[in-house]
Amino acid sequence: MGDRWQALRAEFPSAERWTYLAHAAVSPLPLRCQQGMQAYLDELVAHGGVHYPQVPLAAARRARQLGAQLMGCPLEGVFFVTSTSQGVGVAATGISCGPGDNVVLVDREFPSNLRPWLHLRKRGVELRFVPQRDSRVLADDLAAAVDHRTAAVSVSFVQFLSGFRLDLAPVAEICRRHDALFVLDAIQGLGVFPVQAQAMGVDLLAADAHKWLLGPEGVGLGYASPRAMERLEPVVQGWLSVRRPFDVFALDQPLMPDARRFQPGSPNQAGIHGMAGSLELLAEIGPEVMAQRLILLTDHLAEGLQQAGWSVLSPRVHDGEKSGIILCTHPAVDFATLSAWLEEHGVVSSVRGGALRLSPHGYTTIDELDRVVALLSHRTVF
Ligand SMILES: Cc1ncc(COP(=O)(O)O)c(C=O)c1O
Repeated sequence: MGDRWQALRAEFPSAERWTYLAHAAVSPLPLRCQQGMQAYLDELVAHGGVHYPQVPLAAARRARQLGAQLMGCPLEGVFFVTSTSQGVGVAATGISCGPGDNVVLVDREFPSNLRPWLHLRKRGVELRFVPQRDSRVLADDLAAAVDHRTAAVSVSFVQFLSGFRLDLAPVAEICRRHDALFVLDAIQGLGVFPVQAQAMGVDLLAADAHKWLLGPEGVGLGYASPRAMERLEPVVQGWLSVRRPFDVFALDQPLMPDARRFQPGSPNQAGIHGMAGSLELLAEIGPEVMAQRLILLTDHLAEGLQQAGWSVLSPRVHDGEKSGIILCTHPAVDFATLSAWLEEHGVVSSVRGGALRLSPHGYTTIDELDRVVALLSHRTVF
């Protein structure tokens, strides 16, 4: 393992205790994140709001800049979400559509990208669910579902279960052709796989920090394109949605000219301070390098699992569809028992969709993966 990965690993005291293969669920926090949060808590304990709003604004600026870099968008497009669901909800509540219009979604996605849209049915909007084929979302299927009445296409960058990573360019092209908004739940890939939201034509992106971004829950990154800002009504507004928030009685004042119009009230400052540290750590490596590392690790894991008699269910024919998630199965396994047994042996895994989901991060080592494969070859537990 090179210096870069050792340095990243040193950020995770959890790695001394756990072989952590559940970053697709909830990531352990790196020290940099803890230090960021701790500094803010210390400030509040010592001074309360004396340095408000300078202290929060400085951390927010840093996190937004790093977020812009990671999402491939201008600073004006960045806002903070309180969860991926809430971020997707900005599009699902703010979009203008009615009877005869439709929204295109993908069947069997994580509910954070489906439930926010359900209320539109009450407005007479048709929700079109595109099926997954062999755990893949095909651009042709999306193209067949989209028409001139499609208000939005909302998909996941990486499927939470199979780990299939979507090629964003063809989806953006379909949306452009039909003038539909392109909404992306990016939580399972942002931070570790490159995203150029602006160049790729994404309109609204949301990703909470608690998985691949290595941050805490309850805070995350959002991006809104100029088209999204034009079309999405900020339905849930608050005092911070406007250009002059301290001009509190001016209800008729203009909205924030940038994507922060979608942040209604006091944000999760401790979370933002922590996330800024995590984003800094990721920026030191960069998503291109991180993607190569994750492909190397997951290739190694997939190969080892197959040699041990496991079936890898994640689509992995070419690098472009690979992610940090390996979904695997074995006919003789009770997965709940297995996952608990793995935990007894210091391995953190997830059971999803009746299979075992393993998700390393850049600081995971090949030795750790080999040990996990050796454990999974231990037939007596089945
Ligand atoms: C694809 C996907 N979207 C969203 C989430 C989480 O959503 P939220 O940030 O709203 O908790 C998860 C995992 O929990 C997920 O896998």
